[in-house]
Amino acid sequence: MVDIFDNFYKGKRVLVTGHTGFKGSWLSIWLHELGAEVVGIALDPFTDRDNFVLSEIGNKIKADIRADIRDGEKIKQIFAEYQPEIIFHLAAQPLVRFSYDHPVETYEANVMGTIHIMEAIRATKSVKVGVMITTDKCYDNKEQIRGYKETDPFGGYDPYSSSKGACEIAIQSWRRSFFNPEDYGKKHTVSLASVRAGNVIGGGDWALDRIIPDCVKALEAGKPIDIRSPKAIRPWEHVLEPLSGYMMLAQKMWDEPTKWCEGWNFGPESESVSTVWEVATELVNNFGYGELKDSSDPNAVHEAKLLMLDITKAKSRLGWKPRMDMKQCMSLVVDWYKRYKTENVYNLCIEEINNFLAK
Ligand SMILES: NC(=O)c1ccc[n+]([C@@H]2O[C@H](COP(=O)([O-])OP(=O)(O)OC[C@H]3O[C@@H](n4cnc5c(N)ncnc54)[C@H](O)[C@@H]3O)[C@@H](O)[C@H]2O)c1
Repeated sequence: MVDIFDNFYKGKRVLVTGHTGFKGSWLSIWLHELGAEVVGIALDPFTDRDNFVLSEIGNKIKADIRADIRDGEKIKQIFAEYQPEIIFHLAAQPLVRFSYDHPVETYEANVMGTIHIMEAIRATKSVKVGVMITTDKCYDNKEQIRGYKETDPFGGYDPYSSSKGACEIAIQSWRRSFFNPEDYGKKHTVSLASVRAGNVIGGGDWALDRIIPDCVKALEAGKPIDIRSPKAIRPWEHVLEPLSGYMMLAQKMWDEPTKWCEGWNFGPESESVSTVWEVATELVNNFGYGELKDSSDPNAVHEAKLLMLDITKAKSRLGWKPRMDMKQCMSLVVDWYKRYKTENVYNLCIEEINNFLAK
């Protein structure tokens, strides 16, 4: 595999929370392939056809640990045992609609879980870099037509979005109080950043109420695809786009710990911002069959209608930029779902990462 990080991850002890999930499984595969010693902390995978299960990445990494991030003492013990150097914190309850039914659980996992991870970082001297994954939904959504910048206020209407806004406030507080760049080398040796992606799509996601899994499940069942919010506008991007940003940022934080420890948006270019209906149409075109049905429900719970991210800062300061437009992205997404039943999924993921890097 081409190593765009110049051997940086080879031999590094990297701890990924949420490695059994959609984004975490891809990140673990990529890091493992680059030679990192990956330790994962998460709950069990949701289905037996998740990317984590089919790729068998759990058998390849250094340690595949099932633990709850709400259990702070357990998390500290795992950190003490494995002495990680770099943390990617992805574990969360990430679903908006689920959060309306389970607001307490959502806050416990997202807010207290993040705080337990930061406390474990504080207690473990080996940790040099912490990249905390929140979301585009952490901003106070005013349904405005410009993208949210890193300096915009945090907020959130529904429990999921607001829990991630609360995570951002906690991360900012821990950075000021315990990992302050001004105290670096005197009181601590940690660089802590938070990162916000758009609507991430890619192979191996079977989560509830997400457009790609919903489409694939309907196609596999030979049913029309119900589109709940056809007109909602979202910043769609392939999973490898934000992951490449998180990994690039962590490398820079390692090299210059006080320069990069802040918030970063890793969304798509504005051309890729499109409606749910357009995305589903692109998916159906790539599959070559399928029918969309407008199933708008006037009584549905509130979900944002318009959401975009401004990625000027990551482009100008980090030199990161998205590699694919919407069409290229969807062709890679559909590639996974067409092939997962018959092929070696680990090799399929590596092939897709190589494809992505060649763009
Ligand atoms: N998928 C997206 O569109 C998107 C967009 C922006 C941000 N994010 C964020 O990226 C991260 C990963 O999202 P995803 O789509 O891969 O979600 P996912 O649901 O596929 O994976 C979530 C992971 O977190 C773990 N987890 C959940 N609760 C836990 C707990 N209490 N203790 C330990 N582990 C726990 C799960 O086991 C799983 O491994 C989340 O923080 C999410 O908020 C996702």
